[in-house]
Amino acid sequence: MDAVSNLSRAADWLREAENIVVFSGAGVSAESGIPTFRDEGGVWDRFPPEQFATPSGLLATAARQPHRVAEFIIGLLEPIAEAAPNAAHLAVAELEKHAGVTVVTQNIDGLHHDAGSTTVWEVHGSVFQIVDQAGRQLRRVSRSDLRAVVDALRQTLADGFQLDQARQAVRPVLDFGPQGYCRPDIVLFGEAMAEPAWTKAREASEECDCMLIVGTSGAVYPAAMLPEQAKSAGANIIAVGPERCFCDLWLRGTAGAVLPALLKLVSGQGT
Ligand code: OAD
Repeated sequence: MDAVSNLSRAADWLREAENIVVFSGAGVSAESGIPTFRDEGGVWDRFPPEQFATPSGLLATAARQPHRVAEFIIGLLEPIAEAAPNAAHLAVAELEKHAGVTVVTQNIDGLHHDAGSTTVWEVHGSVFQIVDQAGRQLRRVSRSDLRAVVDALRQTLADGFQLDQARQAVRPVLDFGPQGYCRPDIVLFGEAMAEPAWTKAREASEECDCMLIVGTSGAVYPAAMLPEQAKSAGANIIAVGPERCFCDLWLRGTAGAVLPALLKLVSGQGT
């Protein structure tokens, strides 16, 4: 089937669906300037996950090379601090005019919310929510708070890196003290999925007629089991991205190009 007929078949499935789950990963935010994890030059190329994405790895790196953790925090937070929703996030939000839409995202960047999607389950948590060590929510931070942390950390590196100065710089998002610690509510490898988001995401995947997967490699479980679960429950599975993942119908291309074109067809504006 050619690209045009794939697009129109996907639009038919979306038009016929009552409940749609949009399941997104880092690729949906790539065109907002946030690097993906596994593409060439992605986050894990620069910061190997065994050193930066597990609690024990991160603590060991912090003890041996604290300046590398500072660089990791800058690498993670700076693109998010600067980001705004792109055409793909906006098209996902617009889709709500046509059906019930639940967004399930592995992203921690808040861009689906900012685009106007109303039901968003962030299964790997949110960088904007600061929690204590029991997981209790303490406060929310803004993109400009993240920008301030990045600027202060950069200054620390420019000054030759002093641990006390670095700790002060990250205090709005990460702090250790006699009472315990606070940290962003994001899921590292080996940690439990964010709740209630994960339970809601599984329920929505079981109940949807159509799942639209956008910009994920499908490499990380348990999140990657959601499309399989939706398929077993009878849903049509569409995937959008440069690389094929588990799906019935693959729309090859970038999210920022494909999703607006798809939305046009769903709204009856396309040819
Ligand atoms: P990955 O980096 O594994 O995959 C990103 C996917 O997006 C790839 O399939 C790319 O081809 C695709 N992509 C790149 N640019 C795109 C574009 N402009 N439009 C559409 N697709 C594009 O990121 P995720 O699948 O999100 O979790 O990774 C899943 C999890 O692994 C993350 O949530 C994170 C990471 O480790 C944790 O850290 C727990």
